[in-house]
Amino acid sequence: MSLNNYIDLRSDTVTIPTDAMREAMAKAVVGDDVFEEDPTINRLQELAAERMGKEAGLFVSSGTMGNLVAMLTHCQRGDEIIVGDQAHIFYYEAGSSSAVGGIHPHTIPNQRDGSLKMEDIEDAIRSDDEHFPITRMLALENTHNRMGGTYLTPAYTKQVADFVHARGIKLHIDGARIFNAAVAQGINVRELAQAADSVTFCLSKGLSAPVGSVLCGSREFIRLARRRRKVIGGGMRQAGILAAAGIVAMEQMVDRLSEDHANATKLALGIAGTPGLSIDLASVQTNMVYFNIDPALPFDAVELCRRAWAGKVKMLDTGTRRIRAVTHAWVSGDEIDTAIQVLQEAVRR
Ligand SMILES: Cc1ncc(COP(=O)(O)O)c(C=O)c1O
Repeated sequence: MSLNNYIDLRSDTVTIPTDAMREAMAKAVVGDDVFEEDPTINRLQELAAERMGKEAGLFVSSGTMGNLVAMLTHCQRGDEIIVGDQAHIFYYEAGSSSAVGGIHPHTIPNQRDGSLKMEDIEDAIRSDDEHFPITRMLALENTHNRMGGTYLTPAYTKQVADFVHARGIKLHIDGARIFNAAVAQGINVRELAQAADSVTFCLSKGLSAPVGSVLCGSREFIRLARRRRKVIGGGMRQAGILAAAGIVAMEQMVDRLSEDHANATKLALGIAGTPGLSIDLASVQTNMVYFNIDPALPFDAVELCRRAWAGKVKMLDTGTRRIRAVTHAWVSGDEIDTAIQVLQEAVRR
């Protein structure tokens, strides 16, 4: 199960394609997708749209591209988006909204569960005054990466959607791991995407496909989004070879995400029982485990990760004393036991 003899918990992006994906890729019927003539991409887009309860889908190279194309489609230059201060869109996408789109991010605090407070949203919406940019879009993230893989519910999503729609503002969901959110709640993913105008989800994270994300929305939104994707160089040709793996990902890799969630809980409990480490167990809701190193200990997150790496376990330092571990299809329950042991020895040394 392990990857190159390591238990690699840095991210679910390290997953590699399954044998079924490689077979589907080898046999994929392809065509020129800029002419909309790649049957495998067309099938992937239809399947994705159907799963999200939207009219249409657009295959993009990454989650970052999906989010950017959504922002470029909903907004004009000088417009503003409301986004959480811990959101991937704000934190980890190289400032793409402003760098490429001239779109101004207005951040409000993410709560511990990844949500945004309704009062904060209300305060952030600009009035019609020439001093202000126009608030055009709000982004939610589900699951929320930096808040620990926490999920948002359909009821909360609908509450936000109704609120912003009543003010002429679009709702985009960065649903890189929205299937994790659905599986954790035992609901159909459509319930989480329904209220949004657009949603991006990733095939190449917990679902193990090698490349790609899909942006979904109305037929008209996707028609406009195709041009924005072209502007940023995302018009691909015989990329059905990649979409083939994405179809297998959606058909075969969703239900098993519950195993990753069980493994994350197991890891979190092991960490909670390790002197010198602390963890907020309530934040461990899907496949992510964030934990902290006691300030009294004479080493930081970089050093602890280095020690774990020497024991063949890879994790990611995300703060001076904060570490992230993410479970996925290429880590078994037994390997989680091994990872806990390695971590406990690394703390003791
Ligand atoms: C919540 C979230 N959104 C978007 C992305 C971007 O995805 P990509 O790395 O495919 O650009 C990530 C990547 O980890 C993510 O965690």
